[in-house]
Amino acid sequence: MPVGGDHTLSVLFVCLGNICRSPMAQGAFRAAAARQGIECHVDSAGTASYHIGSPPDPRAIAAASAQGVDIADQTARQLEREDFFRFSHIFAMDEANLVGIQARAPRDGTAKIAMLNDALENNVRKSIADPYYGDEELFAKVWDEIAAAAEDLAARIAGGGIVARP
Ligand code: 4NP
Repeated sequence: MPVGGDHTLSVLFVCLGNICRSPMAQGAFRAAAARQGIECHVDSAGTASYHIGSPPDPRAIAAASAQGVDIADQTARQLEREDFFRFSHIFAMDEANLVGIQARAPRDGTAKIAMLNDALENNVRKSIADPYYGDEELFAKVWDEIAAAAEDLAARIAGGGIVARP
């Protein structure tokens, strides 16, 4: 049974470590969905195992917090087989992780898999760059990119462009 029931949209954001980009996407999308009145289960995961159990990177927490979104209570986890059945949509933050997700996808998995920006009108094939080796300024820039994508995604969902179980 999918999380949130049969007809509820459930969205999983996936990056490499699940401590920078996908936690920001989880927080930004949760906030955008709330603003737009969308009922939706939201989570995030990483394709890699390095940071399992860790909170988001302090720079990601700060970037989100500066825009009024609290992501400090998130805990990193790795993408798992069940995710391909529990979530209606899995969005990769970049192309490398899209490939990693597709490689792990069970044949009978039901989640629709795409790169986040491919779900949107204006940014097709555009990866969200990994900010891990950058500074606070880069995290703020990546937050803005992710938040804009999250807002667009929520608008597409609200407009019926993306449905839970096609
Ligand atoms: P994320 O960023 O995939 O956006 O969470 C990274 C976090 C950790 C590492 C790389 C990227 N790392 O190499 O540990």
